[in-house]
Amino acid sequence: MLNDEESFIDFKIPSEWIYRGEGNCNIVLSLPKTGKILRIRKTNKPNSLIGWLIVWISDFIFWYFGKAIEDEERDLKFYSTVMRPLIGRKYTSEAMQVILTRKQIKILENELGKYRPEFRKHKILQYGRASIFNDFAFIPQEECDYLPFKMSEDTFAIEIKPKQAWRSLSEKHFPACVFCMNQYMKLGNKRINTISGYCPEDLFSGDVSKMKNAIKCLIKVPQNNFRVFKNGILVYGEQTKPEFFNIVHSLFSNIDDKLDRLIDEFSELVVKSLVTNVMNVDFPDNCEEKRFCEWNKIIQDSNINSVLPRGCVLEKILSIQMLDTEGCSYYDKLLNQENSSDWKYINKLLDRIDNKDVCLKCIIMMLGNTNHREEEMDLAFVPYLISAIAKDCSIMISLKKILEDVCDLEMKNIIKTKYGNFLVNVGVFDLYPKRLSSIKKHRQRNKSILQAYLKARKSKSNE
Ligand SMILES: Nc1ncnc2c1ncn2[C@@H]1O[C@H](COP(=O)(O)OP(=O)(O)OP(=O)(O)O)[C@@H](O)[C@H]1O
Ligand SMILES: *[C@@H]1O[C@H](CO)[C@@H](O)[C@H](O)[C@H]1NC(C)=O
Ligand SMILES: *[C@@H]1O[C@H](CO)[C@@H](O)[C@H](O)[C@H]1NC(C)=O
Repeated sequence: MLNDEESFIDFKIPSEWIYRGEGNCNIVLSLPKTGKILRIRKTNKPNSLIGWLIVWISDFIFWYFGKAIEDEERDLKFYSTVMRPLIGRKYTSEAMQVILTRKQIKILENELGKYRPEFRKHKILQYGRASIFNDFAFIPQEECDYLPFKMSEDTFAIEIKPKQAWRSLSEKHFPACVFCMNQYMKLGNKRINTISGYCPEDLFSGDVSKMKNAIKCLIKVPQNNFRVFKNGILVYGEQTKPEFFNIVHSLFSNIDDKLDRLIDEFSELVVKSLVTNVMNVDFPDNCEEKRFCEWNKIIQDSNINSVLPRGCVLEKILSIQMLDTEGCSYYDKLLNQENSSDWKYINKLLDRIDNKDVCLKCIIMMLGNTNHREEEMDLAFVPYLISAIAKDCSIMISLKKILEDVCDLEMKNIIKTKYGNFLVNVGVFDLYPKRLSSIKKHRQRNKSILQAYLKARKSKSNE
């Protein structure tokens, strides 16, 4: 029923905000001074009068029953109960739901017009679905406060969307990884004009030279997988592509060295940040000491995971991607599930987890292997859906140069380079649930990707 809006905090958008960016589903504004970002969900813009009318009416009904607000609450609960513990609380931000008035949304919508890229404007802001998170483009004040040395004013942040780095047994025989094959489909659709040499399997390989090469490929062809921010402002990305020399030059503070040496050192800095257990993240999985743990068995059976240091952000993300042990062939089951609902699985999952003192990964994996009663069939897809989130999330590494000599200081969050030492913080975001029907969409997409790849290979061998 009608939600009591007073029960949520009465949120006013501060007069000072900056458009940070947007993806397919969300728009993000940074709120300087607060160290937070405001994330607002988007919805399709109707393209006819009737469409507008329907949106207007359903908007009203949803508002009346507090539907959108409830949906946001459900997604945040999923985020805090499932995704945050899986990734590690220290790598993720607390989330706070906020309610914006219709008037605020309307005003924002207008003002945002000047900043948003044209190709994103087929979506508009959705009422009732906004939340506040920490801004990972900066290092949290409390991380800096206790440090007794001087640091640069500037903060750099490197955003990476790493994508899928693990293939289940049934996918091992594919000619290449999905990301690499997908490049050919994107090229065919003219969504990109250069093939990227980046390969997620290299980035997660644990092999330093392969990992550094992956970063260098991202610098060359960033697409939507790589961005650099300076003090929260985008300075490098697909649409903003100055000479990378300017970036490294300003990050390392005016070192006069050859560009490829600087890029090499930059890549090493990024790789080190990704493999350090930056915050000495604890292992909350209760299974650690238990004799029988389905999850530990899998980890032991696969030697892939062991090469990444435990507790580093890449290992955390990869181990969640690996929850999808069955691989694509399994999901045919869903094709007979015409009437299953997109989001019902979330509350069913939350019920299962409630108060259980068992490792989360085990609960999730077991859901994939049990025979469920008909009305709970959707739980069987939970491992896939959660793994899919980890294949789509983003990492942000924020860095501040230390201006004093700290050579003999050994701290996990201080990374040393030839050109000086950096305080580092690592965050993970974009961890919201996927709809059940996304499996069908992925299936279709997988088919087209494979087709495009085989076609490209064929025409190449005919040349
Ligand atoms: N917590 C955060 N701290 C700093 N920047 C953030 C944060 N969350 C999002 N951003 C910025 O906002 C942009 C859009 O956010 P996000 O990736 O969550 O949107 P999305 O629509 O879910 O993207 P996608 O299409 O990848 O799913 C990101 O690329 C990032 O630059
Ligand atoms: C799509 O392909 C990826 C990579 O091969 C695979 O992991 C995933 O399970 C596939 N999804 C579906 C629904 O087929
Ligand atoms: C689908 O709908 C039919 C008829 O309404 C119902 O009998 C069946 O239980 C439903 N299946 C699921 C998985 O909800």
